[in-house]
Amino acid sequence: MEMPAIFLVGLFCVLFNDGTEVDASQPEFQNFQSCNLMVNESQPYRTSYHFQPPKNWLNDPNGPMLYKGLYHLFYQYNPNSALFGDGMVWAHSVSYDLINWVHLNHALHPTEPFDIKSCWSGSVTILPGNKPVILYTGIDANNTQVQNLAMPKNLSDPLLKEWIKFSQNPVITPPIGIEGDHFRDPTTAWLGADGKWNVIIGSSINDQGMAILYQSDDFVNWSRYQDPLYSKEKTGMWECPDFFPVSVNSTNGVDTSVINPGVKHVMKASFNSHDYYMIGTYVPGMEKYIPDTDFTGSNTDLRYDYGKFYASKTFFDSVKDRRILWGWINESDSAEDDINKGWSGLQSIPRQVWLDRSGSQLVLWPVEEINKLHDKQVSIQHKKLDGGSVLEIPDITASQADVEVLFELPELEEAELLNSTWVDPQKMCTDANAAVRGRLGPFGLLALATEDLTEQTAIFFRIFRGHNAYTVLMCSDQSRSSLKEKVDKTTYGAFVNIDPQHEKISLRSLIDHSIIESFGGEGRTCISSRVYPQLAVHKEAHLYVFNNGTQSITISKLNAWGMSKAQFIYEENCFSYKASQ
Ligand code: FRU
Repeated sequence: MEMPAIFLVGLFCVLFNDGTEVDASQPEFQNFQSCNLMVNESQPYRTSYHFQPPKNWLNDPNGPMLYKGLYHLFYQYNPNSALFGDGMVWAHSVSYDLINWVHLNHALHPTEPFDIKSCWSGSVTILPGNKPVILYTGIDANNTQVQNLAMPKNLSDPLLKEWIKFSQNPVITPPIGIEGDHFRDPTTAWLGADGKWNVIIGSSINDQGMAILYQSDDFVNWSRYQDPLYSKEKTGMWECPDFFPVSVNSTNGVDTSVINPGVKHVMKASFNSHDYYMIGTYVPGMEKYIPDTDFTGSNTDLRYDYGKFYASKTFFDSVKDRRILWGWINESDSAEDDINKGWSGLQSIPRQVWLDRSGSQLVLWPVEEINKLHDKQVSIQHKKLDGGSVLEIPDITASQADVEVLFELPELEEAELLNSTWVDPQKMCTDANAAVRGRLGPFGLLALATEDLTEQTAIFFRIFRGHNAYTVLMCSDQSRSSLKEKVDKTTYGAFVNIDPQHEKISLRSLIDHSIIESFGGEGRTCISSRVYPQLAVHKEAHLYVFNNGTQSITISKLNAWGMSKAQFIYEENCFSYKASQ
């Protein structure tokens, strides 16, 4: 169906306007307001500014892209249940700003022999002439994973509402030696200097995870390259691989096909419930990937996020010259809870990704557009926090907030000595949670906390002194996050690659009812957690800065904002309105 002009006008009104200066007499806006009310927002765990469909199960982000000024996000969605199941579709939403979204009809659903059981994850590649194409994994009647193409029906529709599956699907089937259920999640393709398209597909043989490389002259006929682009023993099935260049000297992103001495290549694979990545050199022609540091299978491997974050995918935003990462953040409560809530799963706040100055890791930071939701602000400057003190950040909606804090450590040399057996940061955080006093730390934030602190999620640091350097540990302690039982309260931890002799310790946390995304050291270490407070909900939620070390520290700067709600519009609910126009 053609999109009536009035709908596009409405889109502009709502998504460009933040909802603040709209003339309420405009019929299209009133209509969208009512479209906005279709979800029970009073549920304490439903988020206010994270991407969520109105109901049911969500997992991987699929095929994110920018097309004709609109961001598109597809994602794995079960239209029938709040749990994962057969019949997965590619749900589809569009946005002008990555924050406010319109949910459209599903782009792909299981209809054909090559995807009759499910349409699983995949990616979009924008072909020359600005022609997006989807390459996705279909689950056929035999539960075999095959790769299929789909193209937009009408390229002049910026919403790309309808997608046509290619008549000659599947275009790639599992090669000999690869199990039919270990062959999925094609990446965005990159174009080589030889004119060939390259794509990798996640797989494994006997627990050796791998990215199998396919090449094509026309995007339709694909042949397998003799060797995988990369493989690593004992990593298991690689789900949702991602492969992309990052600039060596700039925070700007580059197109996926850029290969020159000014870039390094990132190889990401999802396994063991985490998104691991390597930074390295791609040698086209020989089709080799040479990582600077290989996966080791230990807790020191690089991860996008050391909490909950999986099956992520990046895309290049050619308008703002940046690479943006989306990740799936699943629930920590029980399946029974999910059925009762009627939904499960969130997408992270999209994060800009670039190579750290050190060259040894990535930096991840929430896209700047999230700041548009900043509401009431509270600031603190140059405030000493004695050992054992807690300071409330008052007057903002603590259940829905963005906090940035910068800590200064005047007594750095007082830091405890690092024990050489302490090599596993998650274990260090678990063994000594926020209640265990140290010297320099624990200090940080208490989020989604009750006034008496019986419920609290502590995001904190501890500083240790080694022989030649200091070590900064960052933790997210969920052990007291909820009085509720049957919730996964695993504590997360990671080191932050900064030298506190030369840099203050920064922390930013995005708090949104049942999710806390935290960024330490200006995005060098990220930890996301899901929490389900029973008491610290809505107005009963408080936010504090704390220092439970014996040494005093200083808050050099703190800015906290209550956050406005993002707008989510359910297009289907607007159809009757449009029809009656
Ligand atoms: C990762 C994953 C993918 C698969 C999809 C199915 O979470 O298992 O490998 O394509 O989810 O929804």
